[in-house]
Amino acid sequence: MEQTALLKQVEQFVFTKFKTDNTGHDYHHMQRVAKLAKHLAISEREDPFICEVSAWIHDVIDDKLTSNPDQEKNKVIAFLGELGITDQHIQFIIETITTVSYRKKKWPTSKVGQIVQDADRLDAIGAIGIARAFSYGASNGQPIYVPGQEEQEQSTVQHFSDKLLLIKDKLHTDTAIEIAQDRHERLVIFLENFKQEWHFLD
Ligand code: ADP
Ligand code: NI
Repeated sequence: MEQTALLKQVEQFVFTKFKTDNTGHDYHHMQRVAKLAKHLAISEREDPFICEVSAWIHDVIDDKLTSNPDQEKNKVIAFLGELGITDQHIQFIIETITTVSYRKKKWPTSKVGQIVQDADRLDAIGAIGIARAFSYGASNGQPIYVPGQEEQEQSTVQHFSDKLLLIKDKLHTDTAIEIAQDRHERLVIFLENFKQEWHFLD
């Protein structure tokens, strides 16, 4: 099967899986990460096809999104096999997606893994990252902000300091680092405005 047709099949597989997600891991997150991964791959002279396929399915076997990651992994392996992707490539793609998650603090062992992880992290910062954080916070029942917060209840604004503001210094590729500059600045400006409005009459 030709690569464009193959990618369409992968997209359809992911669409069916994530169309009802409301935790910030919806189909559109996968689509943005796939597009970013392709862009990073071209700029970093890596294989855009392997990067894009891995990016499309990067959250499929995540244990916070599925109760049975092993079963999901087998389904993905079978699906990629049906598409005619070689066993060697499938093994590589599976290895890639098991190392991209931020939360598990695993480190990608290949440039492809680094690219997919960078693409995933870029989607967690900037204007979209802000929207996703509050969407996740709402679905998790956490407050948007707890003033004077220090080891208290988790809030979404706290998540900015815990993770989002650190992302720009954790990226692997020069292309992603460049893209992250503006997105990071948007987080900083948002937080300044947010706190200024919150404490307006203090
Ligand atoms: P990944 O896409 O790598 O699986 P995560 O599951 O860690 O990443 O995060 C998915 C999205 O949810 C990100 O946009 C992230 O900022 C947001 N998120 C994760 N944990 C929190 C939290 N405690 N509060 C607010 N947003 C969160
Ligand atoms: Ni993701």
